[in-house]
Amino acid sequence: MAMEETTYRPSPSDSLGTPPTRDNEDTGWNMTRFILAVLAVLSVSVAIAAQNDHLERRYEIPAQAQFIDQKASNVLPSVPPPSEFNLTSVFIPPGYDLAALKEKPFHVYDDEFYDVIGPNPSLTLIAQSDVDPIFHEAVIWYPPTNESAGNPATGTGLNKSAIIQKISLDEAEAVSAKRNATGEVKVHVVDSNPMVLNPNGAIRYKDTILFAAEGMGAEKPSYLTMMNPREPYNTTVLLNNYYGRQFNSLNDMAINPKNNELYFTDPSYGLLQDFRPPEGLPHQVYRYNDKTGAVTVVADGFRQPNGLVFSPCGSHAYVADTGAQQVFWGINGTFPATIYRFDVANDGTWSNRMTFAHAHAGIPDGIHIDTKGRLYAGVGDGVHVYNTAGTLIGKIFLGQTSANFNFAGEGGMVICAETELFYAKIAATSGAPTGAV
Ligand SMILES: *[C@@H]1O[C@H](CO)[C@@H](O)[C@H](O)[C@H]1NC(C)=O
Ligand SMILES: *[C@@H]1O[C@H](CO)[C@@H](O)[C@H](O)[C@H]1NC(C)=O
Ligand SMILES: *[C@@H]1O[C@H](CO)[C@@H](O)[C@H](O)[C@H]1NC(C)=O
Ligand SMILES: *[C@@H]1O[C@H](CO)[C@@H](O)[C@H](O)[C@H]1NC(C)=O
Ligand SMILES: *[C@@H]1O[C@H](CO)[C@@H](O)[C@H](O)[C@H]1NC(C)=O
Ligand SMILES: *[C@@H]1O[C@H](CO)[C@@H](O)[C@H](O)[C@H]1NC(C)=O
Repeated sequence: MAMEETTYRPSPSDSLGTPPTRDNEDTGWNMTRFILAVLAVLSVSVAIAAQNDHLERRYEIPAQAQFIDQKASNVLPSVPPPSEFNLTSVFIPPGYDLAALKEKPFHVYDDEFYDVIGPNPSLTLIAQSDVDPIFHEAVIWYPPTNESAGNPATGTGLNKSAIIQKISLDEAEAVSAKRNATGEVKVHVVDSNPMVLNPNGAIRYKDTILFAAEGMGAEKPSYLTMMNPREPYNTTVLLNNYYGRQFNSLNDMAINPKNNELYFTDPSYGLLQDFRPPEGLPHQVYRYNDKTGAVTVVADGFRQPNGLVFSPCGSHAYVADTGAQQVFWGINGTFPATIYRFDVANDGTWSNRMTFAHAHAGIPDGIHIDTKGRLYAGVGDGVHVYNTAGTLIGKIFLGQTSANFNFAGEGGMVICAETELFYAKIAATSGAPTGAV
């Protein structure tokens, strides 16, 4: 395997002398990951020694990775106006073209990203579908059967529902050495019954997969529903109203490990895509208590509260506001494409809303977290990875939008990119709670 070497100057954050911490590891690391971690620590001590000697650092860059020097983009020869370059555009740093960026899709913006991708990351195209159905949202890994389901959505909404599909991770794993394995991984349709109407978000919940269904028209309200992950894929509705009032179009869910309550977001994409009526509730974040059935509001003030995730210990909540993307109503870059962070109290309430990160490409739709609390967001050019300080440390660059993706198994990731479905192998794993409420 060809390894490339590169040399570059330390970034400003390096000079602060704060290399990424590797303490407070979660338990459950297997031997492979343990060995990887030790190697990573070694390479940093070597790097620090080199820095002291020559103010220069050398890393072996994995075959499918490349370092992007952000300094080289700070001054551009021309900077076009928003009518020509905006959130729908893919930024190509000077000296690159789209093909070069896609050829080595793991883009290192900060050394911490090496910990995320490990020594040999890979990205494999496992399915392609230029028309209906496409691969859009709600990726969820169900470990007992080792399968991952997604929601392909196109031409869906009022007249037909998005459908649920699944793939076998064993099949994906078997082709992960290839770049293009289209046709080698079977994509199965899951016939949920009663059918989940326009499924969007999905999480593991008890022994089921819980979907946020956006609903269909004025008569079929938005709801949360549990699906049996095995045949006959029977579904049971968990919640379909707020004291008699329809939700707008429920989008994503997460379980807070502190209190095991279920939190969910309710933006207006059903209306913005013409399949839900004018709304009757603010765009807010709710929580649901499974013991009492109580539904309460924990946060509001969003344009479009979308992706939702908790830090591994549950002390922070992250909400992606995708207000800049109004679908049929157009884009507006002055509205949020922003991830907010909240503190979560032991009683499950939220405080201290903070601006955590703004996605420079597209909108941050699905968000997920790893065991170190790093945040991953599906955005306009692939998946962006932020450290706990909100700094963009790297990308899994696709050159196109990923509305959602998810960790799947140890070091695996399934990435929806509308017309394409990818399987990535990296070193990091999911830090989200298991969903076993
Ligand atoms: C955004 O940029 C694209 C070109 O990339 C342009 O076609 C579109 O009109 C722009 N949108 C707005 C709202 O300015
Ligand atoms: C739904 O179907 C009707 C009748 O065929 C058609 O007029 C309408 O445009 C369709 N709506 C959408 C959102 O596809
Ligand atoms: C799931 O698939 C992964 C990838 O092939 C494999 O490493 C793992 O052992 C499988 N797990 C189970 C429970 O079958
Ligand atoms: C991947 O392979 C398939 C089947 O050989 C081919 O049709 C498709 O164009 C390839 N895609 C890319 C992006 O190379
Ligand atoms: C599916 O049906 C079985 C058998 O009736 C039932 O025990 C189970 O709770 C159902 N699961 C869901 C999610 O509806
Ligand atoms: C974006 O929204 C602002 C505030 O409502 C408005 O003034 C502006 O015209 C909008 N821009 C576009 C391109 O629609």
